[in-house]
Amino acid sequence: MKDSLFIRAAFSQPTERPPVWMMRQAGRFMKEYWDIKNKYSFLEMCKTPEIAADVTMLPVDLLGIDAAILFSDILVTAEAMGGELSFTQGVGPKFANPVRNESDIDTLQTDVADKLQYVADAIQVIQQRLNGAIPLIGFAGAPFTVLSYLIEGGSSKDFKLTKLFLNNQPELAHKLLKKIADVTVTYLNMQIKAGVNALQLFDSWALALSWDDYSEFSHQYNVGIIAQLDRKDIPVISFCKGSSVFAPLMAEAKPDVISVDWNADLKQIKNNLPKGIAVQGNLDPFILYADKAVIKKKILHLFERMRGEEGFIFNLGHGIMPDIPFDNVKYAIDVVKEFRY
Ligand code: CP3
Repeated sequence: MKDSLFIRAAFSQPTERPPVWMMRQAGRFMKEYWDIKNKYSFLEMCKTPEIAADVTMLPVDLLGIDAAILFSDILVTAEAMGGELSFTQGVGPKFANPVRNESDIDTLQTDVADKLQYVADAIQVIQQRLNGAIPLIGFAGAPFTVLSYLIEGGSSKDFKLTKLFLNNQPELAHKLLKKIADVTVTYLNMQIKAGVNALQLFDSWALALSWDDYSEFSHQYNVGIIAQLDRKDIPVISFCKGSSVFAPLMAEAKPDVISVDWNADLKQIKNNLPKGIAVQGNLDPFILYADKAVIKKKILHLFERMRGEEGFIFNLGHGIMPDIPFDNVKYAIDVVKEFRY
């Protein structure tokens, strides 16, 4: 696995072309996803190792990406802690028992490894299926982003309740963040033991925070998590929307790779990072709705910009949207795979 394009790029070693995978590469833009999804609920899919493996393999077989990502969700940690989680079509995740006070926080459990054993089982089935062909990325949600779902009870446009909680009850926020962080360390080390080849920490909604609040309520927990991983030769990718701004702080957590949203000039971000930290990104996912000639032009433009930079993994600035045409996603991946520096 050390010689794979993805792992080499993640460790800032030279590659013949940038490796490619896409966030949300196993999802609703694929007819084959719906063939499975129409038979099971989303959580059933996550919790049944054979089904999670089937879905993980869809983009491997149909798109030919350079890394697979475990089929699961960032909210399974919060569910294992006691969050009553459901996913409804068109609504997204919901917690029936959002966190409102200290006793709600005290009720959340941290000894949850057994409840997440299904993820370790899924990783083992997936690795049998992959049979060494490409690396498998495991992942978890970062404490701030997971906290936002527990406080809001679901997705939010403005994170109003979350910000009120951080502003008015910072001690409680830290109590909750610490609990989530402890679970996240155990959970990610369990994924390493089960056999993942890389890890990504998703802090999707960090962009809601000011610099100071990001530093206090998100960054310091990510530092602690990354420091406690039994990484050995497992590269760690740190993702957030907001990385265009927060990249210098993210680098202090010592990830191997920073995954960058689509706002920044990727080369500029890379050149301002300490040597040895790779970048991942950062095509605007909306490009994938455009004509194929535009898709090709934008990808090649990014590659020209990144020419000569060691440590570059091609990805989107955020996930694939469910209504992006499959053909366009496949085309983008083919463009990357035909490219040579
Ligand atoms: O990338 C992959 O293909 C691997 C699987 C994966 C899913 N969720 C599957 C999923 C990963 C890595 C995630 C991470 C995740 N989940 C994030 C961080 C990444 C990001 O997009 O910012 C977040 C914020 C979540 C929380 C979540 N899960 C939301 C907000 C939603 C509903 C909205 C949406 O985009 O669907 C989910 C549901 C979800 N997670 C689906 C999938 C395939 C859709 C489930 C369905 O079929 O209805």
